[in-house]
Amino acid sequence: AKIHYHDFVIQATPVKRLCNTHSTITVNGQFPGPTLEVNNGDSLVVKVVNRAQYNVTIHWHGVRQMRTAWADGPEFITQCPIRPGGSYTYRFTIQGQEGTLWWHAHSSWLRATVYGALVIHPKEGTAYPFPKPKRQTPILLGEWWDANPIDVIRQATRTGAAPNASDAYTINGQPGDLYKCSNQDTTIVHVDSGETNLLRVINSGLNQQLFFSVANHKFTVVGADASYVKPFTTSVLMLGPGQTTDVLITANQPPARYYMAARAYASAQGAPFDNTTTTAILEYKAAPCPAKGVKINPAFPSLPAFNDTATATAFTSSFRSARKVQVPTEIDEDLFFTVGLGLNNCPAGASSSSCQGPNGTRFTASMNNVSFVLPSNFSLLQAHHQGIPGVFSTDFPSSPPVKFDYTGNVSRTLWQPLSATKVYKLSYGARVQIVLQGTSIVTAENHPIHLHGYDFYILAEGFGNFNPQTDTSKFNLVDPPLRNTASVPVNGWSVIRFVADNPGIWLMHCHLDVHITWGLAMAFLVENGVTELEAVEEPPVDLPVC
Ligand code: C2O
Repeated sequence: AKIHYHDFVIQATPVKRLCNTHSTITVNGQFPGPTLEVNNGDSLVVKVVNRAQYNVTIHWHGVRQMRTAWADGPEFITQCPIRPGGSYTYRFTIQGQEGTLWWHAHSSWLRATVYGALVIHPKEGTAYPFPKPKRQTPILLGEWWDANPIDVIRQATRTGAAPNASDAYTINGQPGDLYKCSNQDTTIVHVDSGETNLLRVINSGLNQQLFFSVANHKFTVVGADASYVKPFTTSVLMLGPGQTTDVLITANQPPARYYMAARAYASAQGAPFDNTTTTAILEYKAAPCPAKGVKINPAFPSLPAFNDTATATAFTSSFRSARKVQVPTEIDEDLFFTVGLGLNNCPAGASSSSCQGPNGTRFTASMNNVSFVLPSNFSLLQAHHQGIPGVFSTDFPSSPPVKFDYTGNVSRTLWQPLSATKVYKLSYGARVQIVLQGTSIVTAENHPIHLHGYDFYILAEGFGNFNPQTDTSKFNLVDPPLRNTASVPVNGWSVIRFVADNPGIWLMHCHLDVHITWGLAMAFLVENGVTELEAVEEPPVDLPVC
């Protein structure tokens, strides 16, 4: 196994998009940031130097970080942010994961532009469980704002209203031909006729789930979230922010240019969203050159309608683990978490300019009616490690969740979430099941729920209220997919299981950044086991302090 050393310099860089040049926060001046390539079993040492004017941290999305919670990255959870002028070196090892993960800033909305792919090849001396593709191409789907993304979310936090939707979607940082001033820079993926390309598709967008398709071509899905899946064929993918999907695509069409395109799967009912389409071009090297002055019109894929939940759900429920699974058959912790939005009444004495949500309210979001608040003086992990009291409490969610018709027509006043920093304690090795139940308070929406430090099995998903009497019979204990981000269906539920074998503090949150800003998050405190190999390592000496 190798050790890969990298330097990440966080800096403001001029980036031209949609006709204007923007001062954009990047890594090493690159947007999207550098692709890191490793083999399963390798280690990474990434020195992050902050030359920007904002606090920053980097999260290695999906990396299990066994015993290295200090390197996970979410600000105020496992570390204090790296201040302007500061630096921090992340050190961790890839253990057992193969496929595609990614990295992104985990501070405010910086990840809008601070992100890149983490490609994990098979362990040295081992092969892919499918014929080795000729070519591999990361496809990073993103969202672009003309305004500074930090200002967009600060403004929303100030007013209590929803933040502005993005101005464009992007593929590998480029909006593509359908946007103004963009066709010169459209991303082009070159292929040879007959060859198979492994597309490593990542939804690095902030707030939108995306459909993705390539004209006249089909995908064979072979992996997701750095776990192999039983291959299946589809012409459209749906990824929530945070999710990755590895697909094989064979250049078996007449040599020409074909559009690949992505646009929103906007599951929220009635909420405004960015309804534009980003494109890139799949170009066969043998494609005939257009005659002078003739405009080429590549074939365009058919993408589902923005509200096509049936297609989205058919896709997310097609995944089956390709490798032998180790699903716990018994459970020690049987948890039920609601996930959803809410509206807070305008606080007494607050000015109406700070209550510009629907009917003079402020948007909020919660799990089990607790809206998560980040600490500010210590990271949770530091407070836990050093026994500093008063930073968090271990009584999540404090009172058992009220039962109601979660997905029915419920009044927003049913729940007024409590704002607090609460964690749920798990003993080392506990076998955990969580029912993630979407609610329809304010609006029902598909929530990509991400758990740090773990992969979990998704046993089942469904619509309406989870019913333990009838829905447990739907659990797949044979070959459920192993993922780090579950698409909890709109007005529905997902059931996940994992074994708490990685000590530390692990955030679980909706990967729509607007929802995490509103508090749709909680954290698990997983206790150390008895042996040294079951305990979190000592903190690195350069760990930033608050
Ligand atoms: Cu991809 Cu908490 O993040």
